[in-house]
Amino acid sequence: MPEGRLEVLISEADIRRRVAELAGQISADYADAGELVLVGVLKGAFIFLADLSRHLTIPRSIEFMAVSSYENSAEASSMVRLVMDLRKNIEGKHVLLVEDIVDTGRTMQFLSELLRARKPRSVKTCALVRKPDRAAVDAEVDYLGFEIPDVWVVGYGLDFGEGDRTLPYIAAMKADP
Ligand code: PRP
Repeated sequence: MPEGRLEVLISEADIRRRVAELAGQISADYADAGELVLVGVLKGAFIFLADLSRHLTIPRSIEFMAVSSYENSAEASSMVRLVMDLRKNIEGKHVLLVEDIVDTGRTMQFLSELLRARKPRSVKTCALVRKPDRAAVDAEVDYLGFEIPDVWVVGYGLDFGEGDRTLPYIAAMKADP
């Protein structure tokens, strides 16, 4: 049961069901495609990627990237920079970028463009949750778990100051009274 400061937004059972559905859809779409390279974005995506990848029925490999956001005062917006790259060459490969959350969409857009420049066979995107009200750029999500309102969420990979990341459900943090 969540503490009083948390309100469950997506239950453990609903996450499990949706992750299995997404994996079924991805497995069907890539059934004859050969190996799929799953690229998880650290840290948040590690739990979703672990569960999603174990449900897939197609050949797959796992890679990770990490980014950091910083404020760009010239453009008065946040920018994304790469802090950890893939270990393998993705040229000619099918790639699926896996995120826990799409908020402004900047991370997804930045990484999609970066990966596409490396001449993969294809790049698609998958996110467990997206906040449509927060979208600042047009980041396409090919496989989406849930749309959620613009509230701070924790659990299933999502954190608040590194806390609550390993909760099995996704919860909204209640505002202070
Ligand atoms: C979160 C999330 C995405 C990004 C989405 O990462 O995991 O990578 O923010 O935001 P955007 O759509 O506005 O770009 P965070 O910066 O919280 O780092 P973490 O995953 O290491 O906790």
